[in-house]
Amino acid sequence: MKQFASSKELFEELKKLKKNAQSIGFVPTMGALHSGHIELIKQAKKQTTHVVVSIFVNPTQFNDPADFQAYPRTIQEDIKLLEQQNVDYLFVPTTQEIYPQSQEQELIDLGKLDKEMEGRFRPNHFQGVAQVVKRLLAIIQPDYAFFGQKDFQQLTIIRHLVKHEKLSVKIIACPTVRNDQGLALSSRNMRLSEAQKQQATAIYQTLLYAQQYADKISPKELKKRCIDRLEKEELKVDYFEFVHPDTLSFLEEQWESDAIACVALYCGNVRLIDNMHITTTK
Ligand code: PAF
Repeated sequence: MKQFASSKELFEELKKLKKNAQSIGFVPTMGALHSGHIELIKQAKKQTTHVVVSIFVNPTQFNDPADFQAYPRTIQEDIKLLEQQNVDYLFVPTTQEIYPQSQEQELIDLGKLDKEMEGRFRPNHFQGVAQVVKRLLAIIQPDYAFFGQKDFQQLTIIRHLVKHEKLSVKIIACPTVRNDQGLALSSRNMRLSEAQKQQATAIYQTLLYAQQYADKISPKELKKRCIDRLEKEELKVDYFEFVHPDTLSFLEEQWESDAIACVALYCGNVRLIDNMHITTTK
């Protein structure tokens, strides 16, 4: 695996591949890699000839400096994992490399997609995500970029970014990877105790419950019941919403044929998010 810190050097290296009509798959990460990331890498390896992974804990997407500091950083373990997966290129830029002082930070038009859910609890988070992804895509210019469905709102926003900026990359969404009890894998799970991991399985159970009762009662009523279930397990809910899969608008009285149940909550002091695709007979 070749490792780069300089965007210019990486760009030059990848240019050679493009000349030879090789395809480039890109997996952006913030490190602390787990099986969810490995799944993205496996997909990238299946669909492209060369895979680039980036590790960059992006400061502009953290609205809470304490959360940024607490974010796990495990670069040596990450490198081992990436080598085991035969990743071709690793990009580990500095903050200065991604955000040069000479370059002014632009505001990216995200429509209304960043206003609710994560956007309400983490103001400017998605501006930060969109800025870093745009910058990384400009450096790497991949044919395909791979994102997990676990961050559903992020995935929707990145699709919007690509369309809005007319970028030529194809975005591939990969299913959420869960542990045996259904807990969605996340770098933040490293901060959960064994008891909390058990407590957090209520999230998946509640999403399954939502799938079972969708259609039978209104989204608004089902949302209340889901929040009650989670709160009974002493999870502190930031939001639980049923949303339209493209516009992310909230469903209240009526179901759509496809909906996404999105949840964010605290288990102890660790904030977790998850979602599930809900199909109805509508
Ligand atoms: O999903 C993540 O890990 C991050 O938001 C991303 C896409 C790597 C941007 O920093």
